[in-house]
Amino acid sequence: QQVRVFAPATVANMICGFDILGFAVEAPGDEVTMRRVAQPGVRIVSIKGDDGRLPLDAAQNTVSACALQILSDLGLTEEFGVEIELVKHMPIGSGLGSSSASTVAGVFAINALLGSPLSKDELLPYCIAGEKLACGHGHADNVAPALMGGITLIRSYDPLDIISLPVPEGLCAGIVFPHVDVPTRDARQLIKERVLLKDAVVQWGNVAGLIAGLYRNDFELIGRSMQDVLIEPVRSILIPQFAEMKQIALENGALSFGISGSGPSVVAITRDQDQAATITRKIQEHLNQLEIDCNTYVS
Ligand code: HSE
Repeated sequence: QQVRVFAPATVANMICGFDILGFAVEAPGDEVTMRRVAQPGVRIVSIKGDDGRLPLDAAQNTVSACALQILSDLGLTEEFGVEIELVKHMPIGSGLGSSSASTVAGVFAINALLGSPLSKDELLPYCIAGEKLACGHGHADNVAPALMGGITLIRSYDPLDIISLPVPEGLCAGIVFPHVDVPTRDARQLIKERVLLKDAVVQWGNVAGLIAGLYRNDFELIGRSMQDVLIEPVRSILIPQFAEMKQIALENGALSFGISGSGPSVVAITRDQDQAATITRKIQEHLNQLEIDCNTYVS
């Protein structure tokens, strides 16, 4: 018995909703193949596409660690055995929810092999625990959209309250990943613990405006709401050419532009795929002139 599961990359924060908003993209994503074997336990037999950076140790790798936890909670550790092959199709430390995609694919795969005893809502806490293992903090704004699809709001972490939001027809994302490594763990340490009330007022106005825009299919409202006064000023210093990329995106009609997750990937929100493709191409040309390599994705 064997299953192969794909889980997508995600754009966490949706620019204005730090730790509470995120959306899934069509591609890239990671793939987990999981096989039932006679010997009890969870083993990672191969990882491709990680340049040797991820642990093969079952307790340290988020895919196997989450699978082990599910087996343990269901009382099946002594009788159920699986082998795992992980294929990463996206870069690690890119701000595209790389660890989350692997975790979600793994959690979904073990549940499928077990005959789907757990609902997606029940799987989510395992994915959040996997995120904590991978980057030291259990935020859900990558794993929730990777698991549920579309746009998700984490209304509350305790108790966990996840809301799926509407995705307006035509809304697109052009993503550029400049080749610098920004581990989420480090990017989170930069953020200030306290915020000024006047900035919080701007930020929660933007979050509310974005939600209203999604329900109203109002692209102008979505665009002017996707602004971040709390996190972007601090994290953008880690991203080469951030201001220049933003200028290119906005001059070419992007509704909004900001950091994807903890960076260094950046995202332009657009009205259609052509616009997203034009913006990512122009940013790529600009970066290449400066000898900065990058990947681009349109979703
Ligand atoms: N919300 C998280 C952060 C997402 O910005 O640190 C990490 O991808």
